[in-house]
Amino acid sequence: SETGCLSIIVLGASGDLAKKKTFPALYHLFRQGFLHSNEVHIFGYARTRISDDELRDRIRGYLGKDAEVVSKFLQLIKYVSGSYDTEAGFQLLDKEISQHEVSKKSSEGSSRRLFYLALPPSVYPTVCRMIRKCCMNKSDLGGWTRIVIEKPFGKDLESAENLSAHIGELFEEAQLYRIDHYLGKELVQNLLVLRFANRFFLPLWNRDNISNVQIVFREDFGTEGRGGYFDEYGIIRDIIQNHLLQILCLVAMEKPVSLKPEYIRDEKVKVLQSVLPIRDEDVVLGQYEGYRDDPTVPDQSNTPTFATVVLRIHNERWEGVPFILKAGKALNSRKAEIRVQFKDVPGDIFKCQKQGRNEFVIRLQPSEAMYMKLTVKQPGLEMSTVQSELDLSYMQRYQGVPIPEAYERLILDTIRGDQQHFVRRDELKAAWEIFTPLLHRIDNGEMKPKEYQPGSRGPVEADELLAKAGYVQTHGYIWIPPTL
Ligand code: BG6
Repeated sequence: SETGCLSIIVLGASGDLAKKKTFPALYHLFRQGFLHSNEVHIFGYARTRISDDELRDRIRGYLGKDAEVVSKFLQLIKYVSGSYDTEAGFQLLDKEISQHEVSKKSSEGSSRRLFYLALPPSVYPTVCRMIRKCCMNKSDLGGWTRIVIEKPFGKDLESAENLSAHIGELFEEAQLYRIDHYLGKELVQNLLVLRFANRFFLPLWNRDNISNVQIVFREDFGTEGRGGYFDEYGIIRDIIQNHLLQILCLVAMEKPVSLKPEYIRDEKVKVLQSVLPIRDEDVVLGQYEGYRDDPTVPDQSNTPTFATVVLRIHNERWEGVPFILKAGKALNSRKAEIRVQFKDVPGDIFKCQKQGRNEFVIRLQPSEAMYMKLTVKQPGLEMSTVQSELDLSYMQRYQGVPIPEAYERLILDTIRGDQQHFVRRDELKAAWEIFTPLLHRIDNGEMKPKEYQPGSRGPVEADELLAKAGYVQTHGYIWIPPTL
């Protein structure tokens, strides 16, 4: 049942993720009318002993400007304090939720409970056990219990499988929502539509026409403030194994039977299972100078803050097409994009004019856009060519249309019971299978990151690898995001 009383329980309510992402997303859903005060209640749970008002004060600044809406939203929040590994706190939590369910009896009485674990993964198993034991929805009322969890889902194949097995004993897969917030980004969600609703792309999207695909994530700041967390994981676990690999799936997968979430996830798993083992020569690692100055980072840290990894998909569509995944912290710019580079034009009669290759670029952020880089005649009397683009820039084309935050959309999906944009257990396993051997070699110090300057493009070796993989840079052309 998707109506009736809804309780959203944010565990780890006083933490960073809750404050910066979870509560603001809930607020925006509330503001847009997706959460109704007559059926929704929000519970914050954490160890800290604070009052309802203290929690409200902590998050208020992260919400919005409309003071009236903010205060209405904050009134929906109740705080419960308790530990993560004893029953007492969870029994109390259950009591509070039940009271609220009884008081909202008017709304058909059903009991929908959404638990959002904004917690370190080390406590997932215990917390899940406690929820299972003390806080399940009251089945006589109907409804459901769902669990939302965030990466890191383990550190390698074995630990991830252990975690999945633990949680899998307590909850059905249909109750579990593994968030990868990149799947909630507007242009990532657009991939399926683009690829399968447009005749343009169908015949071109394969090894006959595409030379290489890049999926790039760059940040222009380092790991300041979270070096301790980051150092244990590194850029491959933090960004590549999840965010970029999920995008790769959507770019490379075959057409699903239909839009049913299970069909889509089936196709993603197939792509992952077709990825060949990673070869050493297809990897460049980097660590920015100064990374180890962070007091929470060990002096000898071998953790990469940058990586370029070339993946190869062994199937009929993609054999021979390198998928270049690249991610880095403390680089010269902040952006995320997918860049599909086409092969040279055969029998090119304009060759002497050094034309660039066609590229289809999907800019995920900032300045959401899709543009097709193509060669056109330079306007004017001369018959010369120039690089230009067909540009669908969202800011211009969809003026005034707000693009929802990834978390907003994904939380709404969890309430609606749509798992399409969440990572299934077998998908997660296949993703870890690809990266675990490489990660173990890095962890054992068998592969070392190259040093790079903060604010640079990353190690030069990465650009060399890109060229070796067949990427041809277009010189003298730059896409300029439009301004209004
Ligand atoms: C998180 C990573 O998953 O994604 C962070 O842990 C990274 O290291 C962040 O900064 C990037 O997300 P976004 O939405 O800002 O691109």
